[in-house]
Amino acid sequence: MGDLANHFGDDASLEPEDEKTILDFLVQYSAEKSTKEASYKILKSQENKDIIAITQTTFWKNEHKSIPKEVFFKKDVKSKANCKACHSDIEKGLIEDDKIKNISSFM
Ligand code: HEC
Repeated sequence: MGDLANHFGDDASLEPEDEKTILDFLVQYSAEKSTKEASYKILKSQENKDIIAITQTTFWKNEHKSIPKEVFFKKDVKSKANCKACHSDIEKGLIEDDKIKNISSFM
């Protein structure tokens, strides 16, 4: 958020008011403010490294190491960042085991 003009190769600049709205949202719902177990573990596994993606944390990598790499490229998944493809309730902040899709459904 500190340099939106250079956002992963795109200029994502916003009006100051919109930028503040998004920044406030991100801070309000950040792992630092969450009481969820996964948030705590993800934050802890950053180990003071400058990690910008959950998928680069040791916690995330460990939790997903049993999943064959090619699954993340299947058309219904597309990317590791597409959490919702496998965690149906993630938009509600929930990662319950019984809501994790069976990986074989993507094969
Ligand atoms: C291809 C499907 C897939 C994608 C995409 C995926 N996950 Fe997962 N995730 C799983 C599976 C399967 C497990 C359970 C692994 C196990 O128990 O061996 C899991 C486990 C987890 C866990 C641990 C759950 C627990 O009960 O401790 C967390 C947290 C998690 N995922 C977060 C995420 C986040 C955040 C994203 C997106 C950045 C994501 N996952 C993307 C399939 C996926």
